[in-house]
Amino acid sequence: MRHARVIAIDGPAASGKSSTAAAVARALGFAHIDSGSLYRALTWVSVRAGVHDPAVILALAGRLHVDLQSDGDAVRVHIDGINDPESAIRMLEVNAGVSAIAALPTLRDWVNVKLRAASADTSGVVIDGRDIGTAVFPDADLKVFLTATAAARAERRLRQRGHVVDPIELAAETARLAERDRLDTSRAAAPLRQASDAVVLDTTALTFEEQVERIVMLARANGLGNA
Ligand code: CDP
Repeated sequence: MRHARVIAIDGPAASGKSSTAAAVARALGFAHIDSGSLYRALTWVSVRAGVHDPAVILALAGRLHVDLQSDGDAVRVHIDGINDPESAIRMLEVNAGVSAIAALPTLRDWVNVKLRAASADTSGVVIDGRDIGTAVFPDADLKVFLTATAAARAERRLRQRGHVVDPIELAAETARLAERDRLDTSRAAAPLRQASDAVVLDTTALTFEEQVERIVMLARANGLGNA
């Protein structure tokens, strides 16, 4: 069976992976999958139901048909009965709890099955996350590790939420991101780390368009892209 062409974009919290991956996918005519959306959906289930046992979380996720669904170009997370799951999974309680949920190996296995199934349905896909190039698709056609200073990432995340960026809020958000990075890099199961064959892109001094352009150029240099 011919595998889908895969571009893996990994990196720390709020490094711009998802928006960059979506734009790269559009430029190449590939699908985009945000792997974090599945960890967030499981965390949403855990927060909503007040349950922490992975088996119970998965049973509830099954009942709510938590899954990736393709709507045209985009592959989005689905949760039964929730009109705007993309907003629900980005609430603050989910941000605070997601790294603990993502550390549970059973839940990681469940996510990886969904990611591989959704990718197999495409001819080419850009997937962003923490372990895509290291654990989920170690044979990806192109691996990019996207990074930026914690302060630059915190500022972007606050602007993305429409906040005015004041120094106190910036310091608090920087600390929250640093804590999530600490948990994600120190966990035993598929920790966040750079694949040895990943291209590192520090976006601190790049505009969004520049970072997208660099990855699209890399992809084309590797013979990737339908468009
Ligand atoms: O967009 P942001 O950087 O805030 O995070 P995300 O990509 O939505 O991922 C949320 C959380 O899910 C991360 O902090 C990780 O704990 C976890 N995650 C993971 O462990 N592995 C992935 N492939 C993707 C996300």
